[in-house]
Amino acid sequence: MRPLKVAVLGCGSVGSQVVRLLLEQAGDLAARVGAPIELAGVAVRRLDAPRDVDVPPDLLTTDAQGLVARDDVDVVVEVIGGIEPARGLILSALENGASVVTANKALLAEDGATLFEAAEKAGRDLYYEAAVAGAIPILRPLRESLAGDRVTKVMGIVNGTTNYILDKMDTQGSGFDEALAEAQELGYAEADPTADVEGFDAAAKAAILASLAFHSRVTASDVHREGISEVTAADVASAQAMGSVVKLLAIAELRSVAGGDDAVSARVHPVMIPRSHPLASVREAFNAVFVESEAAGQLMFYGRGAGGSPTASAVLGDLVTVARNVVAGTKGAGESAYADRAMLPMGET
Ligand code: HSE
Repeated sequence: MRPLKVAVLGCGSVGSQVVRLLLEQAGDLAARVGAPIELAGVAVRRLDAPRDVDVPPDLLTTDAQGLVARDDVDVVVEVIGGIEPARGLILSALENGASVVTANKALLAEDGATLFEAAEKAGRDLYYEAAVAGAIPILRPLRESLAGDRVTKVMGIVNGTTNYILDKMDTQGSGFDEALAEAQELGYAEADPTADVEGFDAAAKAAILASLAFHSRVTASDVHREGISEVTAADVASAQAMGSVVKLLAIAELRSVAGGDDAVSARVHPVMIPRSHPLASVREAFNAVFVESEAAGQLMFYGRGAGGSPTASAVLGDLVTVARNVVAGTKGAGESAYADRAMLPMGET
């Protein structure tokens, strides 16, 4: 079998770990995929920026568009984040016949439909397990394992930075700024931490979870959102006095509406939860997602939700799946059932 060529777009905290795993585990990956996996190139903003991995210099390029346009690239891994140029690069990659793995929650939550249509039209895979809850396998279970069940609620801690901050405020009496700086140093926070602190990142993840869980088309702007910037030391102390802890939760559920139909409600906000609740014991930057479904009952998914290496694990898992499909000449699960349920009108959460 000819080697499969992988282009990586972005070499920040996630991209550098993706490249490291690709280089270090090349032998194992080849055995699992059934063909050698070769790095075709790594697109970066600056060739001379310091990075956490030694990329062979001849593989580095600042021409991301040129890299995705190459005829020999089979899979494009997008870990740049943000809307543009990521959206244009993913669309070019699909049009050019490559499959795509992305960790880009903001883009999927804003304009996933355009990407899914492009992948469907091109007959290529678009996988994005790393976009929600880092290393935790949660999207594949919702899309595949629970495809025959009726999911009624998804609730969880899906932002590591805010969980880290709230945990430090709760257990160490840390100030907000000090805890945020630590989370940034550990590589958990977004480039602009406002996305974490004000709940935009969690809202994007809630939209992706709700879309998959409820076969709906939910965008980030459909999600009622409140961040943690207004949570004070006094709030944390009152929660403690009541035997509770403050957590930022993403909650998506089905609600009955007039006429007997179901509609989707999705929201992100700080919640005071009793210490006996399993979500109260989710510490530092860990994430946890609860799923309730009619036949399976309650399920819980727990693990590292942020950080370069855990997120790269999910990216590599998707990469193995799409590479196997390239070898077999098939395509994986798409998003064809993507929009058969309405949202509750805004404000009715
Ligand atoms: N900034 C995000 C978080 C990274 O803190 O959870 C993972 O999506």
